[in-house]
Amino acid sequence: MVETIQWIDGAAVLIDQTRLPLEEKYVACRTYEEMAAAIRDMIVRGAPAIGVAAAMGVALGVLQGAEFETVCETLAKTRPTAVNLFWAIDRMKRLYASLAGQPRDAICRRMVQEAQIVREEDIAICRAIGRNGVELVPAGKTVLTHCNAGALATAGYGTALGVIRAAVEAGKGIDVFADETRPFLQGARLTVWELQQDGIETTLITDNMAGHFLKSGRIGCVVVGADRIAANGDVANKVGTYSVAVLAKENGVPFYVAAPVSTLDLTLATGDRIPIEQRAAAEVTHVFGQQVAPAGTRVENPAFDVTPARYVTAIITEHGVARAPYERSLRELGKQENRQ
Ligand code: MRU
Repeated sequence: MVETIQWIDGAAVLIDQTRLPLEEKYVACRTYEEMAAAIRDMIVRGAPAIGVAAAMGVALGVLQGAEFETVCETLAKTRPTAVNLFWAIDRMKRLYASLAGQPRDAICRRMVQEAQIVREEDIAICRAIGRNGVELVPAGKTVLTHCNAGALATAGYGTALGVIRAAVEAGKGIDVFADETRPFLQGARLTVWELQQDGIETTLITDNMAGHFLKSGRIGCVVVGADRIAANGDVANKVGTYSVAVLAKENGVPFYVAAPVSTLDLTLATGDRIPIEQRAAAEVTHVFGQQVAPAGTRVENPAFDVTPARYVTAIITEHGVARAPYERSLRELGKQENRQ
């Protein structure tokens, strides 16, 4: 499987997701500033992978001897929507505080070790999500997914694509439809590439074809990832997810969200309070550097949208599958996490 993020010889090594699928290049981040830029520029992206990257970024800052608060603040300012970023920084902060008074060498070693643990745990979590989701995937049908919630968006195996991988491994005889995911094309560039590496039968469609195929009876279910899930089950994910969810409900197709418990933000009562990242206009006016809209065109480019919980059939996590009413089921999952 593709190595999204690794710790090698004192550096965080990332596959450069801005160059895939045309080039398979790796970037080494040796400072927290380099890691912050890699997250902002989407060399590494996807909520759980951003969390691992942030943990490694904090470890790099400690190795550099940089001011700890500045390190954490710089990393926290990179992308606002994926709560895993803040979850990972908080985890590293708590550990750092607990190490106060220890020799610098010991602190550095332990911080690096923790970042590697965050990475390893993420792979195990994705496999558990896959195991928990497999029974929900109808055999012999097509699974529709949006964006890339795969190995590239995590430390490995993926959340939504983890469910798909587990269903394939279980012999369910499924294939995949990948939305291209305008404007950044994570579906076309990353999901298709990643599934091809595993020999999983994948068909690329443009985002505006989703309704057509959801109506056709061919799609057995939709599985997507999430960047932040509010206490009531509202789900922030890549822009365009909401439209797919509405079309799925209209056509009686189950709509599943696969995400680790670290993507839950139970401090937010509803999805209305989830911060939505606005990205550069050039992502919309240009495709691969080629201008496709008139110069000076006014643009909106929200990177995420919020799907109201009423469209979500179930949320698949490493601790189990949550269903409505989500206030209760997600709170239970949160409690389970705290007990661990
Ligand atoms: O802007 P991106 O590419 O970071 O957005 C990624 C998504 O929206 C994913 O679906 C989400 O982070 C879940 S990844 C397992």
